[in-house]
Amino acid sequence: MALFRRNKKNGTAAAVMPRHIAIIMDGNGRWAKKRGLPRSFGHSAGAETFRTISRYCDSIGVEQLTVFAFSTENWKRPQDEVEGIMDLLRKYLRDSCAQLAEENVRLRFLGDTDRLPRDIQELIGKNRVISDACTGIIVNVCVNYGGRLDIVRAAQKLAQKVKNGEIQPEEIDEELFSESLWTRGLPDPELLIRTGAESRISNFLLWQSAYSELYFTDTLFPDFTPEKLDEAISWFAGRKRRFGGV
Ligand code: IPE
Ligand code: IPE
Ligand code: MG
Repeated sequence: MALFRRNKKNGTAAAVMPRHIAIIMDGNGRWAKKRGLPRSFGHSAGAETFRTISRYCDSIGVEQLTVFAFSTENWKRPQDEVEGIMDLLRKYLRDSCAQLAEENVRLRFLGDTDRLPRDIQELIGKNRVISDACTGIIVNVCVNYGGRLDIVRAAQKLAQKVKNGEIQPEEIDEELFSESLWTRGLPDPELLIRTGAESRISNFLLWQSAYSELYFTDTLFPDFTPEKLDEAISWFAGRKRRFGGV
């Protein structure tokens, strides 16, 4: 029973261990700038940190990790930066094809992936097949993801079902709406972390974070370590979650 499982590293009881952690991985560009390097170096360093953090989450019994890697607004960036990020994604997907099964990670991509370069879409498909045979931590990577787009698309899907006569408008409730989002089937994240010293959500899981505990840290994402994640989890353990009650 999950309640009695313990964090192998810091001893936190599972009852106060979030099942689902979401991270806005921000601060890569500033990390590079501080070192006099091009922003792309920050994105590469961030990709390494992401690997370390996802392995760590698995080792401490987190069931789901959802990370914000590229937003629907990030296309506004200079073309070479966007291409650099797509190259990193390609590399990540190629490497994971070989590693997923070994690490037993279920890798998922959330967002409008149809807008990504064709070869990346194919790699995502390949990863999906390998992932489906795995049973370990679920890692959701949000790429071309926007919380508003997620909600609008869910509304479109439901409207289409009403139009087809599959459902009645009054059958649309929170549960059905949740099941129409990209995050269908996932529990809402209990803990949402943003690195990089900004205190905003920037169009991340708008619906799903209704009752998430929000943790903002000045640490730039490439400097985010398992120890820093432990600090966030310890902070989470001290929250009183009331969900509107007393
Ligand atoms: C987050 O780091 C990664 C992406 C949004 C792709 P940034 O690139 O936003 O880094 P800063 O915020 O400019 O430092
Ligand atoms: C949020 O970071 C998106 C990701 C981390 C992928 P941004 O850097 O795009 O957000 P803003 O522009 O600071 O709000
Ligand atoms: Mg940023």
